[in-house]
This record gives sequence, structure tokens and C-alpha cells, in this order.
Amino acid sequence: CPPFPCSLCFQRRLYAAQAARKVEVTGFQPQDVQVTRLPSGLVIASLENYSPASKIGVFVKAGCRYETPENVGVTHLLRLASNLTTKGASAFKICRGVEAVGGNLRLSFKITFAFLFECSDTVMEFLINVTTAPEFRPWEVLDLTPRVILDKAQAAQSPQIGVIESLHQAAYKNALCNSLYCPDHMVGNIQSEHLHQFVQNNFTSARMALVGLGVDHDVLKQVGEQFLNIRSGAGSAGAKAQYRGGEVRLPGTSSLVHAAVVSQSAAAGTGEALAFSVLQHLLGAAPNVKRGAAVSNKLVQGVAKATTDPFDVSAFNASYSDSGLFGVYTICQAAAAAEVIRAAVAQVKAVADGGVTAADLTRAKAQLKAHFMMSLETSEGLLEAVGAQALASGSHQSTEEISKNIDNVSLNDVANAAKKFVTGKKSMASSGNLINVPFVDEI
Ligand SMILES: *[C@@H]1O[C@H](CO)[C@@H](O)[C@H](O)[C@H]1NC(C)=O
Ligand SMILES: *[C@@H]1O[C@H](CO)[C@@H](O)[C@H](O)[C@H]1NC(C)=O
Ligand SMILES: *[C@@H]1O[C@H](CO)[C@@H](O)[C@H](O)[C@H]1NC(C)=O
Ligand SMILES: *[C@@H]1O[C@H](CO)[C@@H](O)[C@H](O)[C@H]1NC(C)=O
Ligand SMILES: *[C@@H]1O[C@H](CO)[C@@H](O)[C@H](O)[C@H]1NC(C)=O
Repeated sequence: CPPFPCSLCFQRRLYAAQAARKVEVTGFQPQDVQVTRLPSGLVIASLENYSPASKIGVFVKAGCRYETPENVGVTHLLRLASNLTTKGASAFKICRGVEAVGGNLRLSFKITFAFLFECSDTVMEFLINVTTAPEFRPWEVLDLTPRVILDKAQAAQSPQIGVIESLHQAAYKNALCNSLYCPDHMVGNIQSEHLHQFVQNNFTSARMALVGLGVDHDVLKQVGEQFLNIRSGAGSAGAKAQYRGGEVRLPGTSSLVHAAVVSQSAAAGTGEALAFSVLQHLLGAAPNVKRGAAVSNKLVQGVAKATTDPFDVSAFNASYSDSGLFGVYTICQAAAAAEVIRAAVAQVKAVADGGVTAADLTRAKAQLKAHFMMSLETSEGLLEAVGAQALASGSHQSTEEISKNIDNVSLNDVANAAKKFVTGKKSMASSGNLINVPFVDEI
């Protein structure tokens, strides 16, 4: 979505409003998700959603955060290689590309590898081939180099990808600082052997979830027991993310400046993370644009006082099993950058200082619930949500439970989350003409 109003943004907002209404009218539908953890550690989750086509997803905790200095970049090649292995397959999505949506990337790739399939006669075989026994022929791996270069060139066109990747580099010492893209020094240097070793050590049963929509739970269990138990055992948990705080600046000629300022927030699945999610919606989560259009969006309100030029501002949130980032993402003209960034940060400070009403909180919670429900409306979104939960906790939380937990977030919880941002050690990334962009220690 571009920084300025477009029909897509508009449709999205319209859709959000419809979804909010639907939630009010119908409440959360109970869903019958069955979850089993096999002795191999593999988690099986199935859901009857009465959709005509059955779908299957395999989720593996083997994203770029698990790369080591010796094989950094290997997951970028794996994303491309998994496409090769299933040439002609009925896979409907293999490891979705890295898209920037508003201020947010599909950050799930940092953690998870996902293979999603439409069910057909051969799907099980493809699925098993792709997750357990990929061949990675040396010449095929070599042939991936031009695609790696092309991918990197395309990513370089997106200021959002640049800023969010740099933000992780600035924020973390290890693991989560790894890029979704193969670094320059490894392009052409990743061999078939690296891919084999990474799969061997990281694609273990205990780090996989097999999720089916419209698939019988017992059938799915059998598949898991028979075919996906090749590498059982707990496997290594991987290094815990270490936050450091810092800054990366990507100077360029663009008069449109992108900047993100964050602090460490909370690990996913905690009550505190939920408070950050409510705070995100309180401040304004969606890419928002038209000044005056979003009366309830605190960031837009605050920034509108700082500049007369068009701008975009939203609250940024990323959450991982052991850490999270929360802050503001701004897009504005170079001349106004300092005022816009400071005004956005000041809005979070206002929340920390108690400037939130009960009505604001109620609205933010309703928006968060609507956002959550909307993400489950496509079968792909549903697969991903069930898969992410199954991987993270080996269980499933019903929408009612999640809704109750959201309701339980208090004004105090939200103010504390905002305080954590205000007082925390900051990380910052910016791109474009940076002449007026303050350094992180000046904010
Ligand atoms: C997989 O390959 C097809 C062409 O064979 C291409 O269109 C698609 O973008 C590729 N997907 C990924 C994730 O690279
Ligand atoms: C799975 O792998 C085996 C062995 O490499 C191969 O013979 C078979 O054709 C593959 N199946 C599919 C559906 O690709
Ligand atoms: C993933 O694979 C690499 C390469 O073999 C290995 O060095 C690393 O320890 C593995 N990571 C985990 C968390 O097991
Ligand atoms: C924000 O945090 C929540 C967890 O509370 C998570 O479900 C959501 O995906 C996060 N958003 C992003 C962009 O990571
Ligand atoms: C609600 O939140 C409080 C802390 O704010 C916590 O102690 C309590 O367990 C929560 N209740 C539920 C049902 O999650």
C-alpha cells in the first residue's frame, strides 16, 4: 500500500468496519480445533471449517533466526529451493514471499517455514518429500544464485523492508538480527551441503506442526506418525534473542523518509504482549492516511499538528517467542521528519502519562478483536493462525478465550506498556533523505 490514500486502503478500512459489526452481531463462533502432540514431538492440529476444499499446512520452526554465522542466508535459499522440489505440485503457497503490508512485513518468516497445500491425491507425497527428503542437487542450488540476487534487488526497492530489517539488526545481537535475505558475502557461497545440514538439524519433528482444514484428525495423525517422524527428539531450542538497542541509518535520495523507533516489548503469548496489541490499536495500527479521517487514531491526531504535508504513521509491533518490539513507524517528507517522529513518540508518552479514556480503551479492544477475526476469514489465515499457535504452545486457544483475554486488559496495563516504550532503550532505523532525521539518542 503506498503512503497516500488509495482504493485498497479504503477497501481495507471498509472491510474492517464490516468485520467489527459482524463481531458485535454474531459474537465469536466456536471452532472445533483438535490438537494432539505425538511422541515424536510433532503437533497435529485439525479443524473442520466445512470448506469444500481441504487444505494442509506444515509449519517448521526453522526461519532465519536459527541461522548461524556459518550458514547465514541459508533459509533464503531454502525458500527458493522448496519451490524447485515441488515443481508441478499442487501446492497453493509454498513459503509465501516476503511482502510489506503497510508498516508491517510478514515477520513470521523470521521464525517459521510454512508449506501450504490444497489436498489432492499426491499432496501427502509432495509434502513429505518437501519437508523430509529434499534433494538440493548441487547444480540446482547453484542455479538459485540469480534468483537470490533478483530477490535482494526487489527487496531493496522497498523502503519498508529495508527499515524493518535494519531495525532488527539494530535491536538484536543475535538470532532475530538475521535477515530474511541472504547477505551479500554469502551470495553464491551457499552449497547444497549447507541446505542438507540445515534441514537435517532444524526440520525435526518437535519443531513441526501439521495442520489440516477440512481433514479428519485421525487421518492427519496417521500421516504424522507414518511419515513425519523421521527426525524425532526435542532438537535444540536455538539461541535466545538478546536485545541490545541501537541505530541503523540507510541514507538515500528519496524525499520521503521512512523511520521506525521502538523499544523491547514483550514475548508473544504473554498478557503483556496482549497489552501491547491493545496499545497498538489505541494508537492506530493500520496504515492510515487521510488527516481528519481517523478521529480515533491518536498517532494521526498528534502528527497532524506537526506538519501540513501528507504523512503516514502507525504503531509498530513484532512479537517472538522470547522478545518483541514495539514503537512507531512514520513516513513523511524529509523537511518535516524531526517534527513528525517526535510528535509520534510524544503520543505514546501521552498514553504512558495516563491520557487514555475508558472509551478509547473499549474502542481499541473492539478494533483488535475485529482485526483478529478478519485474519481468520481466509483459509490461509486460519491455517497460519492455528499453525503458529500449535508450534508456539502445542495447543489451541479458542476465539472466546482470546476475546476474554483481550477484555481483561486494563487501562493500567496499557499505560504500563506505553511506559515500557518510553523508558526502554530505543532502537531506530530510517531511510531516505535523512538530513532532518534525529539520531536515536536525540529522541
Ligand atoms: C515459485 O516458482 C514460480 C515459478 O515457477 C514463481 O512464479 C513463484 O514466484 C515462486 N515462488 C516463490 C516463493 O519463490
Ligand atoms: C518423492 O520423492 C521420491 C524419491 O525422490 C520420488 O520418486 C517421487 O516421485 C516424489 N514424489 C513426488 C510426488 O514428487
Ligand atoms: C540449524 O542447523 C544448523 C546447521 O546445521 C545448526 O548449526 C544449528 O545449530 C541448527 N539450529 C538449531 C536450533 O538446532
Ligand atoms: C502484534 O502482537 C500480537 C501479539 O500480542 C501478534 O499476534 C501480532 O501478530 C503482532 N503483530 C505483528 C505485526 O507482529
Ligand atoms: C486478568 O488480568 C489480571 C492482571 O491484570 C490477572 O491477574 C488475571 O489472571 C487475568 N484474568 C484472566 C481470566 O485472564
